[in-house]
Amino acid sequence: MAISSFTSPMLLLPLVLLLAISTTTQANDPDILTDFVTPNSSSVDASFFTYSGLRNFYNPDQKNFTVVKASMKEFPALNGQSVSYAVLQFPPAAVNPPHTHPRAAELLVVMMGTLEVGFVDTTNVLYNQTLQEGDMFVFPKGLVHFQYNRNHNQSAIAVSAFGSANAGLLSVPKSVFTTGIDENVLAMSFKTDVPTVQKIELGNVV
Ligand SMILES: *[C@@H]1O[C@H](CO)[C@@H](O)[C@H](O)[C@H]1NC(C)=O
Ligand SMILES: *[C@@H]1O[C@H](CO)[C@@H](O)[C@H](O)[C@H]1NC(C)=O
Ligand SMILES: *[C@@H]1O[C@H](CO)[C@@H](O)[C@H](O)[C@H]1NC(C)=O
Ligand SMILES: *[C@@H]1O[C@H](CO)[C@@H](O)[C@H](O)[C@H]1NC(C)=O
Repeated sequence: MAISSFTSPMLLLPLVLLLAISTTTQANDPDILTDFVTPNSSSVDASFFTYSGLRNFYNPDQKNFTVVKASMKEFPALNGQSVSYAVLQFPPAAVNPPHTHPRAAELLVVMMGTLEVGFVDTTNVLYNQTLQEGDMFVFPKGLVHFQYNRNHNQSAIAVSAFGSANAGLLSVPKSVFTTGIDENVLAMSFKTDVPTVQKIELGNVV
């Protein structure tokens, strides 16, 4: 084959498309062309860059897993800065069910207690770990992961940083069982029957 045929536009097209796709799938938050993004043209002061929503977040009487987010929605100054936080509180035996963040990796650090964490890669291999206070764990972008406080006596607290101002959240139980997917589809997918699917749907899916 002549060298020149490699440079013909028709042959280059797939390559260009491939590059375009790989660039898209690796994309992070878009770069901004200003120092920061303000919600309107009015001038802002330091309070715009301050978020106090995590003060007194710890509630020792809390019985359920709770998350307090500081993402673009709660803290508009993060728009365009590609960072955000979430603070996770796990009462004894609480679980953060399997979920993904489609737009960012998550870097979790345990501030109090112990935490079992894990994620599953695209070949269905589970990577799990038991973290002590001070330990860090990274959940790669887009992969299904969970956290569990196996200790039935002590609360755990963790802080998670995200490489996106709006990492997004897709809960596996919620997206599968609360969105109206045909129960026959779910029954066949989980190799069970419709009554079992309905039992899960009627439970308090989180
Ligand atoms: C414009 O932004 C400032 C700072 O966030 C805010 O205080 C003000 O209410 C906004 N005004 C309008 C019209 O949205
Ligand atoms: C805790 O979770 C239970 C079961 O999911 C629910 O019924 C209850 O309302 C929750 N309590 C709070 C304070 O959110
Ligand atoms: C990982 O999970 C398995 C159960 O799937 C459990 O037996 C094991 O103790 C866990 N490992 C760690 C380090 O938590
Ligand atoms: C947790 O509390 C139970 C009952 O109070 C006790 O039997 C158990 O030893 C405690 N476990 C730990 C790890 O402290």
